[in-house]
Amino acid sequence: MASLLYTTFTVLMAILSSSIVCFAFPGFSFGWGGGAGGDGDGSFGNGQGYPGLFPEFYSFSCPQANDIVMSVLERVIAKEPRMAASLLRLHFHDCFVQGCDASVLLDDNVMFASEKNSGPNSNSIRGFEVIDEIKSKLEEACPQTVSCADILALAARGSTVLSGGPNWELPLGRRDATQASLSASNKNLPPPNSTIQNLIKLFRRQGLNEVDLVSLSGAHTIGMARCSAFKQRLYNQDGNDQPDSTLEITYSNGLKTVCPKTGGDNNISPLDFASPSTFDNTYFKLIMFGKGLLTSDQVLLAGNVEETMLLVKAYAEDYALFFDQFARSMVKMGNINPLTGYQGEVRKNCRMPN
Ligand code: HEM
Repeated sequence: MASLLYTTFTVLMAILSSSIVCFAFPGFSFGWGGGAGGDGDGSFGNGQGYPGLFPEFYSFSCPQANDIVMSVLERVIAKEPRMAASLLRLHFHDCFVQGCDASVLLDDNVMFASEKNSGPNSNSIRGFEVIDEIKSKLEEACPQTVSCADILALAARGSTVLSGGPNWELPLGRRDATQASLSASNKNLPPPNSTIQNLIKLFRRQGLNEVDLVSLSGAHTIGMARCSAFKQRLYNQDGNDQPDSTLEITYSNGLKTVCPKTGGDNNISPLDFASPSTFDNTYFKLIMFGKGLLTSDQVLLAGNVEETMLLVKAYAEDYALFFDQFARSMVKMGNINPLTGYQGEVRKNCRMPN
Protein backbone atom coordinates (compact mmCIF):
# COMPACT_ATOMS: atom_id res chain seq x y z
CA MET A 1 0.00 0.00 0.00
CA ALA A 2 2.77 2.39 1.04
CA SER A 3 4.73 1.61 -2.10
CA LEU A 4 1.61 2.14 -4.28
CA LEU A 5 1.09 5.53 -2.62
CA TYR A 6 4.73 6.41 -3.12
CA THR A 7 4.61 5.43 -6.82
CA THR A 8 1.46 7.50 -7.35
CA PHE A 9 3.08 10.46 -5.60
CA THR A 10 6.26 10.17 -7.72
CA VAL A 11 4.29 9.95 -10.96
CA LEU A 12 2.18 12.96 -9.97
CA MET A 13 5.26 15.01 -9.11
CA ALA A 14 6.89 14.06 -12.40
CA ILE A 15 3.84 15.22 -14.37
CA LEU A 16 3.57 18.41 -12.33
CA SER A 17 7.21 19.35 -12.58
CA SER A 18 7.34 18.70 -16.31
CA SER A 19 4.35 20.99 -16.80
CA ILE A 20 5.99 23.64 -14.63
CA VAL A 21 9.03 23.46 -16.88
CA CYS A 22 6.96 23.92 -19.97
CA PHE A 23 4.96 26.84 -18.57
CA ALA A 24 8.00 28.52 -17.09
CA PHE A 25 10.20 28.17 -20.14
CA PRO A 26 8.80 29.95 -23.16
CA GLY A 27 11.08 27.94 -25.45
CA PHE A 28 9.15 24.73 -24.92
CA SER A 29 7.16 23.51 -27.88
CA PHE A 30 6.13 19.85 -27.80
CA GLY A 31 8.23 19.46 -30.95
CA TRP A 32 5.27 19.92 -33.33
CA GLY A 33 5.17 23.67 -33.65
CA GLY A 34 5.92 25.85 -36.59
CA GLY A 35 4.38 24.23 -39.64
CA ALA A 36 1.40 25.67 -41.44
CA GLY A 37 -0.66 23.19 -39.43
CA GLY A 38 -4.32 22.50 -39.89
CA ASP A 39 -6.32 20.27 -42.13
CA GLY A 40 -7.22 22.69 -44.86
CA ASP A 41 -10.28 24.20 -43.24
CA GLY A 42 -8.16 25.81 -40.55
CA SER A 43 -9.01 23.47 -37.71
CA PHE A 44 -6.23 21.63 -36.00
CA GLY A 45 -7.30 18.05 -35.57
CA ASN A 46 -8.05 17.80 -31.88
CA GLY A 47 -10.18 20.95 -31.85
CA GLN A 48 -7.91 22.37 -29.16
CA GLY A 49 -6.17 24.82 -31.45
CA TYR A 50 -2.59 24.94 -32.60
CA PRO A 51 -0.54 22.28 -30.81
CA GLY A 52 2.35 24.56 -29.78
CA LEU A 53 0.11 27.22 -28.21
CA PHE A 54 -1.83 27.01 -24.95
CA PRO A 55 -3.66 29.49 -22.70
CA GLU A 56 -1.50 28.84 -19.61
CA PHE A 57 1.76 29.55 -21.42
CA TYR A 58 2.74 32.46 -19.14
CA SER A 59 1.12 31.08 -15.97
CA PHE A 60 4.49 30.65 -14.29
CA SER A 61 6.83 32.88 -16.29
CA CYS A 62 4.62 36.02 -16.34
CA PRO A 63 1.28 35.42 -14.63
CA GLN A 64 0.44 39.13 -14.67
CA ALA A 65 0.87 39.45 -18.47
CA ASN A 66 -2.81 39.82 -19.32
CA ASP A 67 -3.41 42.22 -16.40
CA ILE A 68 -0.62 44.48 -17.65
CA VAL A 69 -2.07 44.44 -21.18
CA MET A 70 -5.56 45.20 -19.88
CA SER A 71 -4.47 48.05 -17.63
CA VAL A 72 -2.86 49.87 -20.56
CA LEU A 73 -5.84 49.14 -22.83
CA GLU A 74 -8.37 50.36 -20.28
CA ARG A 75 -6.68 53.74 -20.03
CA VAL A 76 -5.97 54.16 -23.74
CA ILE A 77 -9.42 53.04 -24.96
CA ALA A 78 -11.25 55.15 -22.38
CA LYS A 79 -9.41 58.14 -23.83
CA GLU A 80 -9.76 57.12 -27.47
CA PRO A 81 -12.36 54.39 -28.14
CA ARG A 82 -11.23 53.96 -31.76
CA MET A 83 -7.91 52.55 -30.55
CA ALA A 84 -9.72 49.29 -29.73
CA ALA A 85 -10.56 48.92 -33.42
CA SER A 86 -7.05 49.80 -34.53
CA LEU A 87 -5.51 47.17 -32.25
CA LEU A 88 -7.97 44.49 -33.33
CA ARG A 89 -7.07 45.19 -36.94
CA LEU A 90 -3.34 45.07 -36.18
CA HIS A 91 -3.62 41.41 -35.10
CA PHE A 92 -5.46 40.59 -38.36
CA HIS A 93 -2.81 42.34 -40.46
CA ASP A 94 -0.15 40.46 -38.55
CA CYS A 95 -1.68 36.98 -38.88
CA PHE A 96 -2.43 37.18 -42.63
CA VAL A 97 1.22 37.89 -43.44
CA GLN A 98 3.56 34.94 -42.75
CA GLY A 99 1.48 33.99 -39.69
CA CYS A 100 0.92 35.62 -36.28
CA ASP A 101 4.56 36.53 -35.66
CA ALA A 102 4.46 40.30 -35.07
CA SER A 103 6.11 40.88 -38.47
CA VAL A 104 3.72 43.83 -38.93
CA LEU A 105 5.42 45.69 -36.07
CA LEU A 106 8.93 45.66 -37.58
CA ASP A 107 10.27 48.98 -38.89
CA ASP A 108 12.39 49.29 -42.03
CA ASN A 109 15.74 47.62 -41.60
CA VAL A 110 18.86 47.05 -43.73
CA MET A 111 17.73 43.43 -44.10
CA PHE A 112 14.10 43.99 -45.16
CA ALA A 113 11.37 46.51 -45.96
CA SER A 114 8.70 47.09 -43.34
CA GLU A 115 5.14 45.83 -43.90
CA LYS A 116 4.01 49.21 -42.63
CA ASN A 117 4.52 50.57 -46.15
CA SER A 118 2.32 48.05 -47.98
CA GLY A 119 -0.79 49.26 -49.83
CA PRO A 120 -3.27 48.06 -47.16
CA ASN A 121 -1.13 49.34 -44.25
CA SER A 122 0.38 52.60 -45.38
CA ASN A 123 -1.22 55.67 -43.81
CA SER A 124 -3.80 53.33 -42.33
CA ILE A 125 -2.78 50.90 -39.57
CA ARG A 126 -2.28 52.42 -36.17
CA GLY A 127 -1.69 51.52 -32.54
CA PHE A 128 2.08 50.98 -32.58
CA GLU A 129 2.70 53.34 -29.66
CA VAL A 130 0.19 51.42 -27.54
CA ILE A 131 1.98 48.14 -28.30
CA ASP A 132 5.29 49.83 -27.40
CA GLU A 133 3.88 50.93 -24.06
CA ILE A 134 2.54 47.46 -23.25
CA LYS A 135 5.85 45.92 -24.28
CA SER A 136 7.95 48.21 -22.09
CA LYS A 137 5.72 47.51 -19.06
CA LEU A 138 6.01 43.76 -19.73
CA GLU A 139 9.80 44.02 -20.12
CA GLU A 140 9.96 45.65 -16.69
CA ALA A 141 7.81 42.96 -15.07
CA CYS A 142 9.08 39.89 -16.96
CA PRO A 143 12.16 40.62 -19.12
CA GLN A 144 12.26 38.95 -22.56
CA THR A 145 9.37 36.64 -21.81
CA VAL A 146 6.18 37.81 -23.51
CA SER A 147 6.44 37.95 -27.30
CA CYS A 148 5.20 40.86 -29.40
CA ALA A 149 3.02 38.40 -31.35
CA ASP A 150 1.26 37.37 -28.12
CA ILE A 151 0.90 41.02 -27.13
CA LEU A 152 -0.97 41.61 -30.41
CA ALA A 153 -3.26 38.63 -29.73
CA LEU A 154 -3.90 39.74 -26.12
CA ALA A 155 -4.51 43.34 -27.23
CA ALA A 156 -7.00 42.19 -29.89
CA ARG A 157 -8.95 40.15 -27.35
CA GLY A 158 -8.81 42.87 -24.68
CA SER A 159 -9.94 45.50 -27.19
CA THR A 160 -12.90 43.36 -28.20
CA VAL A 161 -13.94 42.81 -24.58
CA LEU A 162 -13.54 46.48 -23.62
CA SER A 163 -15.74 47.46 -26.59
CA GLY A 164 -18.53 45.19 -25.34
CA GLY A 165 -17.73 42.10 -27.39
CA PRO A 166 -17.09 38.48 -26.46
CA ASN A 167 -14.21 37.06 -24.42
CA TRP A 168 -12.40 33.83 -25.24
CA GLU A 169 -9.70 31.52 -23.97
CA LEU A 170 -6.60 32.57 -25.87
CA PRO A 171 -3.82 30.12 -26.79
CA LEU A 172 -0.40 31.73 -26.20
CA GLY A 173 3.25 30.97 -26.84
CA ARG A 174 3.80 32.62 -30.23
CA ARG A 175 7.33 33.83 -30.90
CA ASP A 176 8.45 36.78 -32.96
CA ALA A 177 9.72 36.82 -36.53
CA THR A 178 13.12 38.26 -37.34
CA GLN A 179 11.96 39.24 -40.85
CA ALA A 180 8.99 41.06 -42.34
CA SER A 181 7.48 40.59 -45.80
CA LEU A 182 6.31 43.67 -47.66
CA SER A 183 5.38 41.57 -50.70
CA ALA A 184 3.26 39.11 -48.68
CA SER A 185 1.53 42.06 -47.02
CA ASN A 186 0.58 43.42 -50.45
CA LYS A 187 -0.47 39.99 -51.70
CA ASN A 188 -2.37 38.49 -48.74
CA LEU A 189 -4.38 41.33 -47.25
CA PRO A 190 -7.77 41.73 -48.94
CA PRO A 191 -8.50 45.05 -50.67
CA PRO A 192 -11.74 46.87 -49.73
CA ASN A 193 -13.17 46.60 -53.25
CA SER A 194 -12.79 42.80 -53.29
CA THR A 195 -15.39 40.56 -54.87
CA ILE A 196 -16.83 37.85 -52.66
CA GLN A 197 -14.85 35.29 -54.66
CA ASN A 198 -11.60 37.12 -53.93
CA LEU A 199 -12.41 37.37 -50.21
CA ILE A 200 -13.14 33.65 -50.04
CA LYS A 201 -9.89 32.89 -51.89
CA LEU A 202 -7.74 35.08 -49.61
CA PHE A 203 -9.29 33.63 -46.45
CA ARG A 204 -8.89 30.06 -47.73
CA ARG A 205 -5.23 30.79 -48.34
CA GLN A 206 -4.97 31.23 -44.56
CA GLY A 207 -6.95 28.10 -43.75
CA LEU A 208 -10.09 30.11 -42.96
CA ASN A 209 -13.51 29.30 -44.38
CA GLU A 210 -16.66 31.27 -45.27
CA VAL A 211 -17.93 31.17 -41.67
CA ASP A 212 -14.66 32.73 -40.52
CA LEU A 213 -14.84 35.31 -43.31
CA VAL A 214 -18.30 36.52 -42.32
CA SER A 215 -17.81 36.41 -38.56
CA LEU A 216 -14.38 38.10 -38.67
CA SER A 217 -15.69 40.78 -41.02
CA GLY A 218 -17.98 41.57 -38.09
CA ALA A 219 -14.90 43.27 -36.55
CA HIS A 220 -16.08 46.18 -38.70
CA THR A 221 -18.70 46.76 -36.02
CA ILE A 222 -16.07 49.13 -34.59
CA GLY A 223 -13.67 51.60 -36.15
CA MET A 224 -13.31 53.89 -39.13
CA ALA A 225 -12.34 53.84 -42.80
CA ARG A 226 -10.82 56.52 -45.00
CA CYS A 227 -12.73 57.82 -48.02
CA SER A 228 -10.07 56.29 -50.28
CA ALA A 229 -11.29 52.83 -49.17
CA PHE A 230 -14.88 53.27 -50.40
CA LYS A 231 -15.09 56.44 -52.49
CA GLN A 232 -15.51 54.69 -55.83
CA ARG A 233 -18.80 53.28 -54.52
CA LEU A 234 -20.24 56.78 -54.28
CA TYR A 235 -19.31 58.03 -57.73
CA ASN A 236 -18.04 55.38 -60.09
CA GLN A 237 -18.25 51.79 -58.95
CA ASP A 238 -17.95 50.04 -62.32
CA GLY A 239 -16.17 52.60 -64.48
CA ASN A 240 -19.48 54.01 -65.82
CA ASP A 241 -19.75 57.05 -63.55
CA GLN A 242 -22.54 55.40 -61.57
CA PRO A 243 -22.67 54.74 -57.81
CA ASP A 244 -22.73 51.18 -56.48
CA SER A 245 -26.32 49.97 -56.89
CA THR A 246 -26.06 47.88 -53.70
CA LEU A 247 -25.40 51.02 -51.61
CA GLU A 248 -28.54 52.50 -50.02
CA ILE A 249 -29.15 55.97 -51.46
CA THR A 250 -29.63 58.16 -48.36
CA TYR A 251 -26.59 56.58 -46.76
CA SER A 252 -24.66 57.18 -49.97
CA ASN A 253 -25.70 60.85 -50.05
CA GLY A 254 -24.55 61.29 -46.46
CA LEU A 255 -21.19 59.74 -47.29
CA LYS A 256 -20.78 62.13 -50.22
CA THR A 257 -20.76 65.06 -47.77
CA VAL A 258 -17.77 63.48 -46.02
CA CYS A 259 -16.07 62.30 -49.21
CA PRO A 260 -16.28 64.82 -52.06
CA LYS A 261 -15.62 63.62 -55.60
CA THR A 262 -12.17 65.17 -55.57
CA GLY A 263 -9.95 65.46 -52.52
CA GLY A 264 -10.73 64.46 -48.95
CA ASP A 265 -9.27 60.98 -49.39
CA ASN A 266 -8.08 60.87 -45.79
CA ASN A 267 -11.43 61.95 -44.31
CA ILE A 268 -12.91 59.14 -42.27
CA SER A 269 -16.31 57.58 -41.73
CA PRO A 270 -17.43 54.87 -39.27
CA LEU A 271 -17.65 51.31 -40.60
CA ASP A 272 -20.79 50.93 -38.41
CA PHE A 273 -22.26 54.42 -38.19
CA ALA A 274 -24.99 53.35 -35.75
CA SER A 275 -22.58 52.30 -32.98
CA PRO A 276 -18.96 52.88 -34.05
CA SER A 277 -17.33 52.13 -30.69
CA THR A 278 -19.59 49.33 -29.49
CA PHE A 279 -18.87 45.76 -30.43
CA ASP A 280 -22.34 44.45 -31.31
CA ASN A 281 -24.13 42.93 -34.34
CA THR A 282 -25.29 46.24 -35.81
CA TYR A 283 -22.73 45.83 -38.61
CA PHE A 284 -24.78 42.92 -39.97
CA LYS A 285 -28.08 44.75 -39.51
CA LEU A 286 -26.72 47.67 -41.53
CA ILE A 287 -25.62 45.34 -44.33
CA MET A 288 -29.20 44.02 -44.45
CA PHE A 289 -30.28 47.64 -45.19
CA GLY A 290 -27.63 48.25 -47.88
CA LYS A 291 -25.53 50.26 -45.45
CA GLY A 292 -22.30 48.31 -45.39
CA LEU A 293 -19.49 50.83 -45.90
CA LEU A 294 -16.95 48.86 -47.92
CA THR A 295 -17.65 46.79 -51.01
CA SER A 296 -16.11 43.88 -49.09
CA ASP A 297 -18.79 44.36 -46.39
CA GLN A 298 -21.80 44.57 -48.71
CA VAL A 299 -20.75 41.66 -50.96
CA LEU A 300 -21.11 39.28 -48.03
CA LEU A 301 -24.85 39.74 -48.69
CA ALA A 302 -24.96 41.00 -52.27
CA GLY A 303 -22.29 38.71 -53.72
CA ASN A 304 -24.68 35.86 -54.54
CA VAL A 305 -22.89 33.29 -52.44
CA GLU A 306 -25.63 31.58 -50.50
CA GLU A 307 -23.55 30.60 -47.49
CA THR A 308 -22.28 34.11 -46.73
CA MET A 309 -25.73 35.63 -47.39
CA LEU A 310 -27.34 33.28 -44.89
CA LEU A 311 -24.63 33.97 -42.31
CA VAL A 312 -25.09 37.75 -42.56
CA LYS A 313 -28.82 37.26 -41.94
CA ALA A 314 -28.23 34.86 -39.07
CA TYR A 315 -25.75 37.20 -37.31
CA ALA A 316 -28.06 40.19 -37.87
CA GLU A 317 -30.84 38.31 -36.09
CA ASP A 318 -28.82 36.70 -33.32
CA TYR A 319 -25.99 38.62 -31.69
CA ALA A 320 -25.10 35.69 -29.41
CA LEU A 321 -24.52 33.48 -32.45
CA PHE A 322 -22.22 36.13 -33.90
CA PHE A 323 -20.31 36.59 -30.62
CA ASP A 324 -19.80 32.85 -30.26
CA GLN A 325 -18.54 32.42 -33.81
CA PHE A 326 -16.40 35.56 -33.70
CA ALA A 327 -14.58 34.21 -30.64
CA ARG A 328 -13.99 30.84 -32.34
CA SER A 329 -12.76 32.46 -35.55
CA MET A 330 -10.44 34.81 -33.66
CA VAL A 331 -8.79 31.79 -32.02
CA LYS A 332 -8.50 30.17 -35.44
CA MET A 333 -7.01 33.31 -36.99
CA GLY A 334 -4.63 33.63 -34.03
CA ASN A 335 -3.40 30.10 -34.71
CA ILE A 336 -2.22 30.86 -38.25
CA ASN A 337 1.34 29.64 -38.69
CA PRO A 338 2.86 30.72 -35.37
CA LEU A 339 6.55 30.42 -34.57
CA THR A 340 6.97 28.20 -31.51
CA GLY A 341 9.68 26.44 -29.56
CA TYR A 342 13.12 27.58 -30.66
CA GLN A 343 11.85 29.28 -33.81
CA GLY A 344 12.06 33.06 -33.98
CA GLU A 345 12.74 35.01 -30.80
CA VAL A 346 11.10 37.09 -28.09
CA ARG A 347 11.90 40.62 -29.19
CA LYS A 348 12.99 43.17 -26.61
CA ASN A 349 11.64 46.00 -28.74
CA CYS A 350 8.68 45.14 -30.97
CA ARG A 351 9.94 47.44 -33.75
CA MET A 352 13.24 45.64 -34.39
CA PRO A 353 14.79 42.19 -34.25
CA ASN A 354 17.10 41.61 -31.25
C1 HEM B 1 -12.75 40.65 -45.11
C2 HEM B 1 -11.79 41.38 -45.57
C3 HEM B 1 -11.42 42.72 -45.02
C4 HEM B 1 -11.22 43.85 -45.73
C5 HEM B 1 -11.28 44.00 -47.24
C6 HEM B 1 -10.92 44.90 -44.80
C7 HEM B 1 -10.61 46.20 -45.14
C8 HEM B 1 -10.53 47.24 -44.26
C9 HEM B 1 -10.34 48.62 -44.63
C10 HEM B 1 -10.12 49.14 -46.05
C11 HEM B 1 -10.39 49.36 -43.50
C12 HEM B 1 -10.24 50.87 -43.40
C13 HEM B 1 -8.78 51.23 -43.41
C14 HEM B 1 -8.53 52.68 -43.72
O1 HEM B 1 -9.32 53.30 -44.41
O2 HEM B 1 -7.49 53.21 -43.27
C15 HEM B 1 -10.60 48.46 -42.41
C16 HEM B 1 -10.71 48.83 -41.09
C17 HEM B 1 -10.82 47.94 -40.06
N1 HEM B 1 -10.75 46.56 -40.16
FE1 HEM B 1 -10.89 45.48 -41.83
N2 HEM B 1 -10.97 44.39 -43.53
C18 HEM B 1 -11.26 43.06 -43.62
C19 HEM B 1 -11.33 42.18 -42.57
C20 HEM B 1 -11.07 42.50 -41.26
C21 HEM B 1 -10.85 41.55 -40.20
C22 HEM B 1 -10.80 40.04 -40.38
C23 HEM B 1 -10.66 42.27 -39.06
C24 HEM B 1 -10.37 41.80 -37.68
C25 HEM B 1 -10.66 40.60 -37.23
C26 HEM B 1 -10.78 43.66 -39.42
C27 HEM B 1 -10.76 44.71 -38.54
C28 HEM B 1 -10.86 46.04 -38.90
C29 HEM B 1 -11.09 47.11 -37.95
C30 HEM B 1 -11.36 46.94 -36.48
C31 HEM B 1 -11.03 48.31 -38.68
C32 HEM B 1 -11.11 49.74 -38.14
C33 HEM B 1 -9.69 50.17 -37.80
C34 HEM B 1 -9.55 51.57 -37.24
O3 HEM B 1 -10.52 52.27 -37.00
O4 HEM B 1 -8.37 51.98 -37.03
N3 HEM B 1 -10.99 43.77 -40.76
N4 HEM B 1 -10.68 47.17 -42.90
